[in-house]
Amino acid sequence: MRFQSLPGFRDFFPADFAARQHIVSAWRDTARKYAFEEYDGPPLEPLELYVEKSGEEIVGQLYAFTDKGDREVALRPEMTPTLARMVGERGRAMPKPIRWFSVPQLFRYERTQRGRLREHFQWNVDIIGEDDVAADAEVLAVALDGLAALGLGADDVEARVNDRRLLEALLVHGGVPRDRLGTAYAAIDKMSRETPDETRQRLAEDAGLAADVVGAVMAVFDHDLDGLEAAYGDVEAVAPELARLRRYFETLATMGWADHVRFDPRIVRGLDYYTGTVFEIFDRQGELRAICGGGRYDDLLSAVSDLELSAVGFGMGDVVLAELLRARGLLPEAAPGPDYHVVTITDDERPVLRRVARRLRDAGHSVSYTLRQVGVGKQFKDADSRNAREVVVLGPDEVGRGVAVVRSMATGDEREVPLDELG
Ligand code: HAM
Repeated sequence: MRFQSLPGFRDFFPADFAARQHIVSAWRDTARKYAFEEYDGPPLEPLELYVEKSGEEIVGQLYAFTDKGDREVALRPEMTPTLARMVGERGRAMPKPIRWFSVPQLFRYERTQRGRLREHFQWNVDIIGEDDVAADAEVLAVALDGLAALGLGADDVEARVNDRRLLEALLVHGGVPRDRLGTAYAAIDKMSRETPDETRQRLAEDAGLAADVVGAVMAVFDHDLDGLEAAYGDVEAVAPELARLRRYFETLATMGWADHVRFDPRIVRGLDYYTGTVFEIFDRQGELRAICGGGRYDDLLSAVSDLELSAVGFGMGDVVLAELLRARGLLPEAAPGPDYHVVTITDDERPVLRRVARRLRDAGHSVSYTLRQVGVGKQFKDADSRNAREVVVLGPDEVGRGVAVVRSMATGDEREVPLDELG
C-alpha cells in the first residue's frame, strides 16, 4: 500500500457507513421526538475558544495550527464551545429554553486505544436557558432513549450521576481549600480506574491535602445517597444540594428511567466548565470506556459571549457505542440492498428494462440492473451480491404478454405482475 489513513482516523467503507448511519438515524429520530432542533457550526474555530474554557486535558489534544492569515485556529475537539458561541451571538432574541442538537465530527489528538480515536462523531443535545432540574432530567432521558432506540436497555447500560455542587460542599466540609478543588476533582475523576491508595497519593501530592483531609475526602465515597444524607444531611451547605439531587432522581423516576440511573459521587467529568449535575453512561459489564458524558455548565455562555444563560447537555460518541452494539449483534452487517434488481433474458428487452427502472425509481424505489447484457445467471449473481430484495425478470414471452416475473430473493416465490403496474 502506498498510502494509508492516518492513525486514529477511519475509512467508512459502505458496510461501515451503514453502521454509522444506523446509529446517527436513531440519534436524530430521538432528538426530534423530544422536539430538539438540529444545528451545525464550522469544524475549524479560533484556538482561543478552547483554551481555558475546556480544560487542560482537551487543550493538550488539540489539532491546532496558524493559518495563512496568521490566525491561531483549531479543529473542533468538542461542540459545546461552538454552541455557546452561536447561542451567545443570536440567543437573546430566541425563545427560551433553546433545545438544540447536532452530530458533529470532532478531532482530538489522543493516544489511540480501544474506544478512543483521533476523530469521532458525537451526538450533542443541549438545553439552554433553564435552571430547573427538569432540564437536567430531560437531556439525560434523551440520551437513554437514544440508546433504547438502538436496542440498549437497563440491562445493558447505566447512567452514573452526581452533582459538582454537592461534591464541592462535601469536599469543602472535609477541609479542602477552594483553590485545590480543581486538582481534587482531577484525582476523583481517575478513581474508578485506580486503586484507593493511588487516589490517596494523588490527593496528598497533586492537591497537597493533609492526611486528615485526605481521609475526610475518601470517606465521602463510602456512601450512597441515603448514606450521605445520614452522615452529612445536617451540614448547612450540603443539605440543599442533597435535596436538589433527590429531586433530579425523582423526576427521572416519574419519566420511567429509575432503573437506568444510579448516584455515583466519583463522577466529576474531565472538562472544566461543568458547574452542576454531571453524568456518564457506561455499559453494565464495565468493560468499555464511557459511551456518553454531560452535565450542567451555567457559566460557559458568559465566558464566551455577552449572554448569561444556564445550560445543560451531553455528548455521546459513536466509537464505544458501535463496539457495544456490535458485541450485542445490534448493528447492520452490510449496507441495505436495492428494492429491485431488473434482469433481461435477451438484449431486446433492454429498452423495456430502462423504462421499468425509471418508473420504479420515480415511485421512490431503489433499483439496480447489470449495466451490460450478460447471461441471466450472471445477472442473478449480481442481484444476489448486491443484496437485492426482489428481482424483476423481463423475457421475450413475458414482455410480449405485457407482464414481468417478480421473484423474492429471500423465499424464491415468484409472481407475474403487469408491466404497467410496476412502479
Ligand atoms: P466528553 O466526555 O469529552 O464530553 O465526550 C463525550 C463522549 O464522546 C465520550 O463519552 C465518548 O463516548 C466520546 N469521545 C470523546 N472523545 C473521544 C475519542 N477521542 N474517541 C472516541 N470517542 C470519544 C464532551 O465533549 C462535552 N462537550 C459533552 C457535552 C455537551 N457536555 C455538555 N454538552
